[in-house]
Amino acid sequence: MAEKRIVLLGPPGAGKGTQAQWLCDAMDIPHLATGNILRAAVANNTPVGVMAKPYLEQGRLVPDDVVVGVVVEAIDEAKKNSLSGYVLDGFPRTLRQAEALQKVLLKRKEKIDKVILINTPDAVVMERLSQRRSCPDPLCGAVYNVKSKPPKVDNICDLCGKPLVVRDDDRPETIEARQKQYWHDTAPLIDYYDRKGLLVEIPGEGPLYEVAGRIMEAVSKIKRPSFRKRPEGEAQANKDGQGEESANGPQDGKEAARESKEG
Ligand code: AP5
Repeated sequence: MAEKRIVLLGPPGAGKGTQAQWLCDAMDIPHLATGNILRAAVANNTPVGVMAKPYLEQGRLVPDDVVVGVVVEAIDEAKKNSLSGYVLDGFPRTLRQAEALQKVLLKRKEKIDKVILINTPDAVVMERLSQRRSCPDPLCGAVYNVKSKPPKVDNICDLCGKPLVVRDDDRPETIEARQKQYWHDTAPLIDYYDRKGLLVEIPGEGPLYEVAGRIMEAVSKIKRPSFRKRPEGEAQANKDGQGEESANGPQDGKEAARESKEG
């Protein structure tokens, strides 16, 4: 099977983690979530964890160099197990991280196949995050929602039986800080990947399974690029080593995200 490398992009609480888990199960590829990796590092008191802890607590971004290092390690680990691709959830989150990722992939003659923007309005994510309950076990990390995805037994993880917790950064003031950070540092990636023809925007509202269906549809449209026949307008993108046809057309994601932000 050809490797598939997919990036999930979207504001905090858009459903990246939930959808990534389903997508990875369906495709049998690993879920590389920087938030989960950093929380595990904090729980295990590793040097990265000690450094990252105050950033996570305040909803601020951990410095690029640290996160890039963590991701390269996770990608290497996935490759060692000869797994066929991965889903990146929560990375890249700044233009510097995106450029660093591209450099690493180019060196390895690899590329991102698709960037899926889960476009979810701020008010919706605010409500979802206030209802989120998470398994505190870094090896489990299952995510629930008291309304849309409750555990079978009240407040107990279905998978490992641990009592569920409200994440430290799911307090209203921290959620707001994370949203601001998203629009300031991460939203520019929408244009960045749109220009490369990699972006597909899907609405993040609606039942979980409907959102999952939209993502699966976007992923099923991934094609290996034919280097003999380059689609019009992708010359620059392919020169960058990143060209790919976007299922919704290059403008869709950018415009929908702006509308959501403005409306
Ligand atoms: P991270 O863990 O990545 O947090 P995030 O991006 O803010 O994303 P969330 O985990 O909050 O939301 P999600 O989109 O995964 O939504 P979920 O599926 O849980 O990062 C945490 C911190 O780590 C950052 O603040 C930063 O400090 C640091 N960090 C991480 N990556 C970094 C990087 N690259 N650079 C620098 N620092 C970094 O869903 C949310 C809730 O909604 C759940 O309860 C879920 O059940 C529910 N839900 C989901 N979809 C639906 C739906 N369709 N309908 C109803 N409910 C739904």
